[in-house]
Amino acid sequence: MKTPETIQEALLTFLPARDGLTDTVIESMTYSLTAGGKRVRPILTLAFAELCGGTEEAAMPFACALEMIHTYSLIHDDLPCMDDDELRRGKPTNHIVFGEAAAVLGGDALLTLAFETALSETAMKLNGAETCVRVGRLLAECAGARGMVGGQIIDLESENRRISLERLETMDRKKTGALIRAACLLGCLSAGADDVRMQAAQEYADCIGLAFQIVDDVLDVLSDEATLGKPIGSDKDNQKSTYVSLLGIEECRKRTAALTERAIKSLSVFDHGTEFLTDFAKKLRDRNK
Ligand code: IPE
Ligand code: IPE
Ligand code: MG
Ligand code: MG
Ligand code: MG
Repeated sequence: MKTPETIQEALLTFLPARDGLTDTVIESMTYSLTAGGKRVRPILTLAFAELCGGTEEAAMPFACALEMIHTYSLIHDDLPCMDDDELRRGKPTNHIVFGEAAAVLGGDALLTLAFETALSETAMKLNGAETCVRVGRLLAECAGARGMVGGQIIDLESENRRISLERLETMDRKKTGALIRAACLLGCLSAGADDVRMQAAQEYADCIGLAFQIVDDVLDVLSDEATLGKPIGSDKDNQKSTYVSLLGIEECRKRTAALTERAIKSLSVFDHGTEFLTDFAKKLRDRNK
């Protein structure tokens, strides 16, 4: 089942046990990975696996790998040298609890655990070695300098100045879109989907990925800390370039609506079974956290 609870259960099976020697880093990893969160990316992986005729069981190690990379990106995103935030998923941020060094290392260890998980015996047995290799390569591409990390450096270098809409879109497609694209495509890969289906999944992902960051920018202004589980006004405090700062709330709403429509249309290549992903795109558009 594609629920945060089943995903959390699966995540726990991949976490290393405390060994009395490296407990600080293991606690740092466990703290952030089990702090909650919407589990949007693993849910997408499982949903695309199902839509393409695969199983949730086979896709689960890939779904978990992606959530580990996402969680590491959040731990580092909150560090004083980046967004300098003190609340995440309704709890004090990792560096507030464990200190900066253990937060950096906990993040590093989650990133590497992601590859260990995607290439684990379990993943190999259920998906075959060739699929696991393709998954490993896709994860690396989407997480690295051409993906999420690349988007994060553009984000930091766009503070305190007005950037073009084109640069903003490129930044968001990388910092947030890339992992969402990986989420959808990993599900397809696990199911052995053909190119037409992969292409449709990519179009869906690219649309909801950009919409997701636009909504995140809006919630940073309009939500409240208790609902969101992270500070509001962080973007303004850091003089970030966001969709809200460039275009205003109304235009953000128009764009997320249009992107969500396009995402839903892209599912038309599938004959049936698209209800979940159709509803999910709408839920992400309308979310309040
Ligand atoms: C927050 O992601 C960071 C962005 C990419 C906008 P989520 O909104 O998915 O955060 P969690 O996982 O639910 O905490
Ligand atoms: C972060 O974007 C995207 C990541 C790659 C972590 P934000 O900095 O806007 O994410 P939040 O608002 O802190 O969750
Ligand atoms: Mg950030
Ligand atoms: Mg941030
Ligand atoms: Mg944000």
